[in-house]
Amino acid sequence: MMDSESKASVAVVSGASGGIGAAICRQLVGAGYRVVATARKPESLQLLQRELGDYLYPLVLDVTDTEAVKRVASAIPANFSDIGVVVNNAGHDVGGRRLFEEGSADQWCDIVDTNVQGMIRLTHALVGGMLARGAGHVINMGSIAGLKPYATGTAYVTSKYAVHGLSETLRLDFAGRGIRVTEIMPGLVRSGFAEQRLGDAQQAKDFYDSSAQCLDPDDVARTVLFALQQPRHVEIAQLVVLPV
Ligand SMILES: NC(=O)c1ccc[n+]([C@@H]2O[C@H](COP(=O)([O-])OP(=O)(O)OC[C@H]3O[C@@H](n4cnc5c(N)ncnc54)[C@H](OP(=O)(O)O)[C@@H]3O)[C@@H](O)[C@H]2O)c1
Repeated sequence: MMDSESKASVAVVSGASGGIGAAICRQLVGAGYRVVATARKPESLQLLQRELGDYLYPLVLDVTDTEAVKRVASAIPANFSDIGVVVNNAGHDVGGRRLFEEGSADQWCDIVDTNVQGMIRLTHALVGGMLARGAGHVINMGSIAGLKPYATGTAYVTSKYAVHGLSETLRLDFAGRGIRVTEIMPGLVRSGFAEQRLGDAQQAKDFYDSSAQCLDPDDVARTVLFALQQPRHVEIAQLVVLPV
C-alpha cells in the first residue's frame, strides 16, 4: 500500500549502508517506493542496489559535509527527483560509553554534528520541493536516549534530545502546509551501531548478547512504513519502540 505522498513516491534515506537504514530501504522498496539510499560507504550501497534493483539509487553522502548536502538535490537523477519522504536515519555514537572527560571532545562533537546537524542539513536541502508541492513526510530517527539520560552518554544523549526538539519544532513550522514530521525512538536494536561505538566486533556482540532482548532493524523499519501509510489527516508525531 502506497502512502498519502504517493504522487511523489521517492524517499531519501540517510545512513542506508547498514542496520536500520538498509532495513528501511528494503521495506520502502517492497512497498513500492523508489528510494535514494545515502551513506558514506559506496560498497555497501552498491550491494543494496544489487539486491533491490532499479528502485534504489545509491548516493554517497556524508551528512557532515555541508557543501555536499547542499548539492544533494542536483546529484539525484530526474527519475528519483519527486521526493516526498526524507528519512533522517544516519547516526552514530563513535567513542561513546565513556565518562565525559574520558572521551574525546572531537568525537563528542562529531556525534552531534552527524546526528543533529546532519539532520538539519539534509532536511533543509530537500524540504523545498515538498513545501512547494504541499505534501511530504520527514521521519527523524531519535532514540529512547532522547527520553532519559544515562551516564557515559553525554554527546549521544544530547544529540537525541536535540532530535526530539528539532522534530517537535519542525512539526510546528510545517503545520498546515502538508508536511508531516514523525520521530521514531527505538530502544536497543541489534545493528552495526555497537561495533561503531565500541570499535570492536566481539565487544559489540557481547554487549548485545548481555541484553535480554534486542529489536531487529526490520522492527524499526516497519514503524517507518506505519507512519507513512496513515491517511493524510493523521500525523504520527512520535513512536517509542521497545524490545519486550
Ligand atoms: N542500534 C540501536 O540500538 C539504536 C537505538 C535507537 C536509535 N538508533 C539510531 O538509529 C540510527 C541508525 O543506527 P543503526 O542502529 O542502524 O546503526 P548502524 O548499523 O551503525 O548504521 C548507522 C548508519 O549511519 C551511517 N552514518 C554514520 N555517520 C554518517 C555520516 N556522517 N554521513 C552519512 N551516514 C552516516 C552509516 O553509514 P556509513 O558509515 O556508510 O556512512 C550507517 O549506514 C542512528 O540514528 C541511531 O542513533 C539506534
